[in-house]
Amino acid sequence: MQPLWLAERVGGLMSLVLLTVVVLLGIAVSAQWRTKYLTEARISGLHRWLSLVIIIFLAIHVVSTVTDSYVSVEWLAILVPFTSTYKTNWVAIGTLAFDLLIALLITSYLRTKIGRKAWVVIHRLTYLCWGFATIHALGGSSEISLTYALALTGVVLVAVAAVMRFVRPPAVIVEGHPKGLPGITSAGE
Ligand code: HEM
Repeated sequence: MQPLWLAERVGGLMSLVLLTVVVLLGIAVSAQWRTKYLTEARISGLHRWLSLVIIIFLAIHVVSTVTDSYVSVEWLAILVPFTSTYKTNWVAIGTLAFDLLIALLITSYLRTKIGRKAWVVIHRLTYLCWGFATIHALGGSSEISLTYALALTGVVLVAVAAVMRFVRPPAVIVEGHPKGLPGITSAGE
């Protein structure tokens, strides 16, 4: 196996797995799932930290893809969809996931400036970003077995977590209001 090909593959698969874990941790934060050890602060810290670690693996994935002379993917294709000569459509979906991820990271750092409501709406695009990344991996991969196993495991986990989160949102008691009275709201609203 060529080193660049290996880097492309490891970078891509690690990015996909981490993105899935970040989505699951995000759902856990908004659903207020926690344990004695995994406190809300730890889950939320891990969610933020891993979302930055993804960038390292994505950088490995895209740089090794573009510099690998075996396939013809241009530098522009990292940011501009449909500009890759190689697997144009599948790469474009990966580019859209990449652009969305950058936008999500930037808006999270500007959260206090854009306001919580706008941030929540924008942050829901994380599902779209993760969906694009999964479709890109499934369609773009030339070595499907491991990619399929990881991508489909991620789909099942996120689907189950999302159903649990949105079908039965947790009740949050706003300070000073006992249960059942005005002041009880849905988490993440
Ligand atoms: C969030 C963004 C992205 C994620 C999570 C991601 C992840 C993946 C994964 C898991 C694979 C399959 C790896 C394998 O089985 O070999 C893959 C393939 C591929 N990715 Fe990405 N990718 C992303 C963005 C991009 C971008 C922006 C580009 C453009 C430079 C790109 C170029 C490619 C190419 C060309 C392949 C196919 C390689 C082959 O022929 O097997 N990806 N990606």
